[in-house]
Amino acid sequence: MKKFIDFITEEMTAAFEKAGYDGKYGKVTISNRPDLCEFQCNGAMAGAKEYKKAPVMIAQDVTGCLEGSAVFSSAEAVKPGFINLKVKEELLGEYLRKMQEEEHLGVDRTQNPKTIILDYGGPNVAKPLHVGHLRSAIIGESIKRTGRYLGHNMIGDVHLGDWGLQMGLIITELKERKPELVYFREDYEGEYPKEPPFTIGELEEIYPAASARSKEDEEYKERAMEATHQLQQGNRGYHALWNHIMTVSVNDLKKNYEKLNVTFDLWKKESDAQPYIPEMVEYMKKEGYAHLDEGALVVDVKEESDTKEIPPCMILKSDGASLYNTTDLATIVERMKLFHPDEIIYVVDKRQELYFTQVFRCARKTKLVEENTGLYFLGFGTMNGKDGKPFKTREGGVMRLERLLSEITDEMYKKIIENRNVKDEDARATAETVGLSAIKYGDLSNQASKDYVFDVDRFTSFEGDTGPYILYTTVRIKSILNRFLQEGGSLEKGSIQGASSESEKALMLELCRFNQVVENAFDEKAPHKICGYIYGLANAFNRFYHETKILSEENDQQKASWIHLLTLTRDVLETSIDLLGFSAPERM
Ligand code: ARG
Repeated sequence: MKKFIDFITEEMTAAFEKAGYDGKYGKVTISNRPDLCEFQCNGAMAGAKEYKKAPVMIAQDVTGCLEGSAVFSSAEAVKPGFINLKVKEELLGEYLRKMQEEEHLGVDRTQNPKTIILDYGGPNVAKPLHVGHLRSAIIGESIKRTGRYLGHNMIGDVHLGDWGLQMGLIITELKERKPELVYFREDYEGEYPKEPPFTIGELEEIYPAASARSKEDEEYKERAMEATHQLQQGNRGYHALWNHIMTVSVNDLKKNYEKLNVTFDLWKKESDAQPYIPEMVEYMKKEGYAHLDEGALVVDVKEESDTKEIPPCMILKSDGASLYNTTDLATIVERMKLFHPDEIIYVVDKRQELYFTQVFRCARKTKLVEENTGLYFLGFGTMNGKDGKPFKTREGGVMRLERLLSEITDEMYKKIIENRNVKDEDARATAETVGLSAIKYGDLSNQASKDYVFDVDRFTSFEGDTGPYILYTTVRIKSILNRFLQEGGSLEKGSIQGASSESEKALMLELCRFNQVVENAFDEKAPHKICGYIYGLANAFNRFYHETKILSEENDQQKASWIHLLTLTRDVLETSIDLLGFSAPERM
């Protein structure tokens, strides 16, 4: 469905042409002086030079051609040459009625559907999920959902870190504790047990212990590195252990992501890329892309226009071991082969930006991707505590995701019980739903690349720019609609008409923007634009609601019009929060 702003720009373009000017000056934007007008056009100022005429005269010529317009209820030329615009309410009503009839609330499916791999989540197996991985999951999920809503083929891949030193550390520590395990017997040729020799609880305790020891004990660290190497070389016993670690850990990760309302299409992992490495390395050597530098195999990726030093991309270490780089490049090879994506987007901590610059340049230079394959890095900032340092527990330890979720849920539970709108048995589930909105909205409402302060009090508040406020507004609309139905009202009757008040018109104008906002948020990979939009929409709705007695209205047509306006507002809010990755309860 055509965007509302384009619709009125067309009317303006025609007016410029009718007045004898170039139509390109007819671009309309949302007013930055909402006290004076709803939209504005600054084209007369831009055209003054070409026509050697005072801008206000051009503006007057144009507004002269807009008399009797079916689109604008007022078009005023004001000094020095702005055109201030208000739109006709009937037109708004008509637009919203159409929006309501359309399948996706007026958002068009893209004409040009792309296959886009979204690399997000990126947890490391056997290490507990901590808040650092939270942002990637939250932001990636929202981008995936938004792209999908627009009709793109979005493929979300969790890209598990399963191939690094953490595996060697766990194996080494396990060997210390239980040397008798069959996995460590070199002469063993039989089958390995089906049951893992540890639980998730033990696994989560083993890793930090091993990691701490490796920092103090050089010999231990070397053993862990050797174990990693052997695992990668295919040691049978270690490989069987690795399988157990994977199963136990992935089950736990899935549970955690489910609580976050995050789902992945692919559960691929770093190790899946390993089979592609030898051939890739051979190819890079043969084509002359890679060369030896102090024993290591590297590809130069610096460019003349660089203002800072971009070091070469290392493909193999001097001992022949592969690196994080190597895995990421081989993963690109695999993705091209299996999915042939138009784009690959990485949602990763922005501290890895230089690293991804190297990887992307290397992939392009060595033609692992096609010329028009887009490789994008979406770096996010750090989630900090009120002290401005990375978010920690009260005791100062690393904040585990599970704990964060349960602390927020407890906080929400207290507030919900205070409000007493919810039966006790529902309160816990409601607290989980609202708590998730607090976390996700708190995160997504900031521009992804910026650091932000995770402020529990602010994020869980029912007032202000927060998830709970958005949900509260949505629930309020749902409860009015329920009351309407209980009183015998029907949603079949009537439809949205023109506005009866200024606050109603303001709400209608917000609703009209939905398709534009969704498209723009996806183009810019900027979920915060959806947050900004629904915050404005929720405010517009609440203002309208406080000024309007909806259910006691006696004029049936008027009442029906408002009820339809409410259902549309609810639908836009619910669709938007779904794109952000959370949902609203029935009551709160
Ligand atoms: N596992 C990595 C980490 O914790 C993130 C992975 C990001 N994705 C990638 N393709 N490198 O830092």
